[in-house]
Amino acid sequence: MTESVTMDAARTKPHLPDAQIVTSVKHWTDRLFSFRVSRPTTLRFRSGEFVMIGLMGDNGKPLLRAYSIASPSWDEELEFYSIKVPDGPLTSRLQHIEPGDEIILRPKPVGTLVVDALLPGKRLWFLATGTGLAPFASLMRDPEVYEKFDQVIMMHTCREVKELEYGRQLVEGLENDPLIGEMVQGKLRYYPTTTREEFHHMGRVTDNLASGKVFEDLGLPKMNPEEDRAMVCGSLAFNVDVKAILEGFGLREGANSDPKEFVVEKAFVGDGI
Ligand code: FAD
Ligand code: A2P
Repeated sequence: MTESVTMDAARTKPHLPDAQIVTSVKHWTDRLFSFRVSRPTTLRFRSGEFVMIGLMGDNGKPLLRAYSIASPSWDEELEFYSIKVPDGPLTSRLQHIEPGDEIILRPKPVGTLVVDALLPGKRLWFLATGTGLAPFASLMRDPEVYEKFDQVIMMHTCREVKELEYGRQLVEGLENDPLIGEMVQGKLRYYPTTTREEFHHMGRVTDNLASGKVFEDLGLPKMNPEEDRAMVCGSLAFNVDVKAILEGFGLREGANSDPKEFVVEKAFVGDGI
């Protein structure tokens, strides 16, 4: 299922404070959609950061949730990649937005998945499940990433093939991108896998790292702290398991204030956490 609608952002002006106008919406599956909104002229962010976005609640108060900005920092609009939680307070409504609608966006970007939080290295690994791809959709389109690293590897795992489609189209479009196509060519390696549907590459990110299969498939050396850097974004369980594997390879977790070999961020806050 792929529906797409667009409009010119200049046609309408927002009314609410901190409001932005929706310019396009694309539904990828019955659980996933992406959309673009106008960008506040004053908003500066680092690729990989997240902001609070939402809609006005029935009680007249903003209903806000954390969302990674999926577009790169040079883009004149902002893009988001979203889950549709059937009874989710925000996404049960957000999934119905259309071009011309308003959303609320608090222009205070934050987050740990930034290049500044890593020490210099040779290869940069992006490790994601589900909508955890979103911050990497931004970083994969950022020239700074290709200036700082010789190779960039995007590992993305979902249950089914159709859930990989947003990422696949994004990566495949990059080589022909007029702005960064040349920088990306030969540097970006894409390693999508599924866990519950037949696909040419299968298995959890954790299993493919721990078994060494991904290194074999891509012809790369086993991860090591001298050359490899990583950014991790998935469910809490995924993040915990990947962190243990990266530490097993000798990489250490860093932060904005203390750059090291890898950084982690939650793609969402799970049930009971
Ligand atoms: P909520 O009440 O927020 O969530 C209900 C339940 O749905 C959760 O307990 C969890 O089990 C499940 N859930 C929520 N979000 C997801 C998800 N993304 N994938 C799978 N299950 C989920 N969500 C996005 O869709 N895109 C993003 O780019 C994104 N970035 C985030 C960045 C950070 C730092 C954090 C903490 C969360 C992010 N989220 C993102 C999750 C987002 O904040 C909301 O939880 C989500 O939009 C659902 O909102 P809701 O009010 O409908 O349901
Ligand atoms: P699996 O199908 O083996 O559970 P979900 O849809 O549940 O959020 O999961 C998204 C993807 O992340 C699925 O492919 C799932 O694999 C995988 N996954 C879930 N938990 C972990 C984990 N702890 N470590 C590695 N991969 C995980």
